[in-house]
Amino acid sequence: MKVFSGIRPSGELHIGNYLGAIKQWVELQEKHECVFCIVDFHAIITAYKPEELQKNILELTIAYLAAGLDPEKCILFVQSEVKEHSELAWLLGTITPLGDLKRMIQFKEKSKKYPEHASAGLLNYPLLMAADILLYKADLVPVGKDQKQHIELTREIAKRFNKTFGDVFILPKALLPEAGQKIMSLQEPKKKMSKTDSPAGYIGIFDEPEKIKEKIMTAVTDSGKVVKYDLERKPGISNLLTIYSLFSGKTIKILEKKFNGKGYYEFKMGMALLLIESLEKFRKKRKELLAREVYLREILSRGKNRAQVIAQSTMREVKNKMGLI
Ligand code: AMP
Ligand code: TRP
Repeated sequence: MKVFSGIRPSGELHIGNYLGAIKQWVELQEKHECVFCIVDFHAIITAYKPEELQKNILELTIAYLAAGLDPEKCILFVQSEVKEHSELAWLLGTITPLGDLKRMIQFKEKSKKYPEHASAGLLNYPLLMAADILLYKADLVPVGKDQKQHIELTREIAKRFNKTFGDVFILPKALLPEAGQKIMSLQEPKKKMSKTDSPAGYIGIFDEPEKIKEKIMTAVTDSGKVVKYDLERKPGISNLLTIYSLFSGKTIKILEKKFNGKGYYEFKMGMALLLIESLEKFRKKRKELLAREVYLREILSRGKNRAQVIAQSTMREVKNKMGLI
């Protein structure tokens, strides 16, 4: 199987990105042909600081490697370095109804939240994402739940292209993790954990131990005492249990038993220790990599060359079918 996925270089990675996406990638690279991208063209659609973009790209490269991606086992590259992505996005736009783009939940939410950035780029975001995936003829796209709709649209676009011009594209499927497809904010457990949240709402994968402890201890729960999974009545505790379970490998049932008769304080202390320990290896690897910028740039440059060969070959087929030179 072929696998493609990407993350925007727009600040720190949090444990939602890790549990929702990267954890699967690390497993997939063992068995499949994987391409993982740093989608910088997607990061500039809402407000950003140009002077920080390069740093964010290198930070995300470090995060990919620290979390366990191996450049010998998968292709790692930066989206804007392979120009076929924007070229194909333009072509896909010519066969995509405007209504399909306008009904995307992310477009609706973001254009409402940031009306000053409701650009054509924001509307066209899923076209670029479809181009990313289709260029590499990916069968599987491991992502969190928020991206499912975009991948369904990608399938529709691929189908329409194949029907109109002849078969070129594979119809991709979203691959969602069984648990952890939507990790919630620690401060507002009915909202997803997000980079644009206040830092108290998320745990960065490189957060220092004191910070991790502080964020978990101040996570919003409820006025009860029982550590029990109940999404309706105990969204905060349920979210913490999900995170605890995914990092420990223990089921939620076992955790409920373990903390039976103990209060939230003890549960949170246990969880803080677990996360501090689980994220320790990421922090250590990051420290090593921070001093190796030349090595990081080499990985990206090699990744770019490998990705380009695939992307150019697909573009030749696309142009040929569409009657372009
Ligand atoms: P983004 O940071 O929006 O570029 O997202 C990168 C990846 O992380 C995508 O696959 C998202 O679906 C996933 N993701 C982002 N936030 C969460 C979350 N709170 N829970 C689970 N997965 C998430
Ligand atoms: N849109 C995705 C997000 O916000 C990032 C992304 C861009 C992506 N291109 C992709 C994910 C291709 C999977 C495949 O998280």
